[in-house]
Amino acid sequence: MAAGVRAPSRTWAEVDPGAVRHNVGTLKRRAPNSRLMAVVKADAYGHGSVEVARACIEAGAHSLAVVTVEEGAELRRAGLEVPILVFTDLLPDRLPLAEAHRLVVTAHSIPSARRITANPGLEAHLKVNTGMNRWGVEPSEVGEARRILGPRLTGVYTHFASADSDEGETRRQIERFDSVLASQPFGGILVHAANSAATLWHSGSHYACVRPGVALYGLHPAGDEGDPTAEGLQPAMALKSYVAGVRRLDRGEGVSYGLTYRAGAPMFAATAPVGYAEGYRRTLSGKAEALIRGLRRPLLGRVTMDACVFGVDEDVEVGDEVVLLGTQGEERISAEELGSRAGTINYEITTGINPRRVERSYEDVRGP
Ligand SMILES: Cc1ncc(COP(=O)(O)O)c(C=O)c1O
Repeated sequence: MAAGVRAPSRTWAEVDPGAVRHNVGTLKRRAPNSRLMAVVKADAYGHGSVEVARACIEAGAHSLAVVTVEEGAELRRAGLEVPILVFTDLLPDRLPLAEAHRLVVTAHSIPSARRITANPGLEAHLKVNTGMNRWGVEPSEVGEARRILGPRLTGVYTHFASADSDEGETRRQIERFDSVLASQPFGGILVHAANSAATLWHSGSHYACVRPGVALYGLHPAGDEGDPTAEGLQPAMALKSYVAGVRRLDRGEGVSYGLTYRAGAPMFAATAPVGYAEGYRRTLSGKAEALIRGLRRPLLGRVTMDACVFGVDEDVEVGDEVVLLGTQGEERISAEELGSRAGTINYEITTGINPRRVERSYEDVRGP
């Protein structure tokens, strides 16, 4: 970037729909006999739900999943016509809106199934608790929930608590779900269970449909470790800013709030207009690195609401590109690395990027 900086916003995100299509292809090859429901909740984990949903459908996704009625309505307003499942239990006043947008809702309990039947046009999937103990009917309640829902029941599913980390527990959840499926006929009903980790690593959980989220974005399901590219996934988002100012620090001078970083020797410091208001987390203070002129540069001191300071060499100039997440030259900063350094997971890194501060653009870089 030249010194007369022309950036889309102070900090911006570049999303690669080609990478999303590639990831859908990778996941479909791992579950070749199953349909794929693309989980695009929370604005597609911060990547932009409409554009990501389009890419997923182009690559062969059969349906979409969201968490709120508003998320589903946004996809319908954008003209997407595939089935859309809403995962969470909805309050009664949201159900007519779900019906108006032809969203498929989830029954999580006997009262929840009864509420759904008050809206005659609604289609529902039944969620079964097989061990995560967060949502869903108990296996013993499945028969009654089915009777209440009658012909509007079109799917049955469960969710794994630790498919990325605990094979034994995942196997036990699959066994409990299989017992539910064996207890009564489920012909014509879509059966699904596998999140990204189970799609990649537990073929016994694929059933008629898999339901990955994080892997669509080229992120590793283990959260703060693992290399997604080793699983054939391509990270779909880069987060970039620019050098807005460079200054020389004398030995002993401090940087940013609290002056927690002090120059041990004369050095150069570059300020980038990105802070925790953009979603660059404050817990990265003093721990992260960014890429400038192809090299890793240490974050000096605290992340503030609107700016960060990185240690640089004399040759760095105003207008140079700052890559906070993504590749520059031979170097790459992954969401897993940022998650680990921030004390969180890759999911929260991308989902936390604030679209009111960070403009997103969409351009194929790598994908098919
Ligand atoms: C019910 C359900 N299914 C699937 C997913 C996708 O999980 P992942 O992003 O780990 O693939 C989620 C995400 O939390 C979920 O809540």
